[in-house]
Amino acid sequence: MRIVSGSRPTGKLHIGHYVGILENWVRLQNEGFETFYFVADWHALTTGYDETQNLAEYSKELIRMFMAAGLDPEKSVLFVQSAIKEHAELQLLFSMLTSVSRLERVPTYKEQKQQMEGNQSLANAGFLTYPVLQAADILIYKGEAVPVGEDQLSHVELTREVARKFNYTYNCEVFPEPESKLSHTPKLPGTDGRKMSKSYGNIINIESTPEELKKAIMPMITDPARKRKSDPGNPEICPVWSYHKAFRITEEDKKWVFNGCTKAEIGCVQCKKLLLQNMEKTLTPVWENLVEIDAREGYVDDVIYSGNKRAREIAKSTMHEVRNAMNLLF
Ligand code: TRP
Ligand code: SF4
Repeated sequence: MRIVSGSRPTGKLHIGHYVGILENWVRLQNEGFETFYFVADWHALTTGYDETQNLAEYSKELIRMFMAAGLDPEKSVLFVQSAIKEHAELQLLFSMLTSVSRLERVPTYKEQKQQMEGNQSLANAGFLTYPVLQAADILIYKGEAVPVGEDQLSHVELTREVARKFNYTYNCEVFPEPESKLSHTPKLPGTDGRKMSKSYGNIINIESTPEELKKAIMPMITDPARKRKSDPGNPEICPVWSYHKAFRITEEDKKWVFNGCTKAEIGCVQCKKLLLQNMEKTLTPVWENLVEIDAREGYVDDVIYSGNKRAREIAKSTMHEVRNAMNLLF
């Protein structure tokens, strides 16, 4: 089965990206699927077309993090969307098969439009056709499964519709109808319990030092009922508990935290110390990989170059089939 997924380059990656997305991608790679992972740099333009000065650097940074997380360029095709111009060609063709009203009904579009009411920079057509580009990203590699978060389900649904419509209209079987592979890791909250977001200043970068982790975790908000160690608490409303679950806690330690908290037998400081240990354990291999990657000059560039090349070959071959099916002259 072929898996395709992409991520927008937004700068430094935080631990929510790691436990929510990258770990899942690595697992699929290691389970032996044929995996294609890319930097969706064109998608980043839909909301930031005027902020391109760091885009190239962020794209490289994302590939560097893909590798640090455990994506292996020998096993996965790692590439950058904007290097494969065929995505844009396929988007153009797909946009003929997609009605404007269908795109206006996409929930992510409706929500963002509401949130950014009056923001003229979001009046661009690319913002509306974002999911059509995503369909092209997936289908150009004949992706059969797409690991995504909940917010992307509607885009994969649209991708299925486009695939079906293409095959039906041109009486062919060029495209599969890909399924979503929903990641079951719940979203990691920020250190203040709100949504993890750069603008709230509540993120923790993957590339933190152990010292920085400690600085971020120790003051973390907990269940406010636990003023003293003798006050029982409820882990379900405590962001530290969400972190525990995301950072490979053993079943035994899980019980220790849960019982200790609800029966007021452990203190929050103890609880956080255990979390820190597990976070370091999880992140140490990533940090070690980063040291290795950075020691090899030009390594990231080389990986991008050869990943692009492999992706391009497949994209070109699909486009041949597409143009044939449509009877285009070229
Ligand atoms: N829309 C996705 C996001 O914002 C990124 C993306 C672009 C993507 N193209 C894709 C994800 C294709 C999966 C498959 O996260
Ligand atoms: Fe949260 Fe742990 Fe304190 Fe319970 S003991 S409130 S889970 S930090």
